[in-house]
Amino acid sequence: MGDFIQMQNIVKRFPSVTACNHITIIGFAKGEIHALLGENGAGKSTLMNILYGLLKKDEEEILMDGQSIEINSPQEAIELGIGMVHQHFMLIPKFTVIENIILGTKLKREPFLDFKVARKEIEALQKTQV
Ligand SMILES: Nc1ncnc2c1ncn2[C@@H]1O[C@H](COP(=O)(O)OP(=O)(O)OP(=O)(O)O)[C@@H](O)[C@H]1O
Ligand SMILES: [Mg+2]
Repeated sequence: MGDFIQMQNIVKRFPSVTACNHITIIGFAKGEIHALLGENGAGKSTLMNILYGLLKKDEEEILMDGQSIEINSPQEAIELGIGMVHQHFMLIPKFTVIENIILGTKLKREPFLDFKVARKEIEALQKTQV
């Protein structure tokens, strides 16, 4: 199994700090589980937020299956098969549980939200054995 995702020379500067200073990860293979270790403020969340398209790059190259890819939004990351469980919850307080769960997912009956179908799918997922 080859390296499915590689991150090369990732740099992210905030005004007061360089959060990621030329970080290279070679690489993540499909089905592997990795732990990213570092002290508070080391840049772990920043690095993952870049992979998930939440933060814009300063300098970087992300490779998927050996090809250079651009990830400009979480939507694009999801389409590439990259998901994210956030360290800090990113829920919209005014939304219901179902509205928060389906936020950003593809609508089956655009432009309408089908809450009945969403509820059924969520209930089916709850019964899925991991
Ligand atoms: N949006 C932002 N604007 C400015 N600085 C930021 C921003 N996000 C993170 N930082 C800074 O970048 C550095 C890395 O932060 P990051 O949250 O990536 O670290 P972390 O390794 O995930 O830390 P923790 O273990 O606390 O979760 C920190 O100095 C942080 O204050
Ligand atoms: Mg973090």
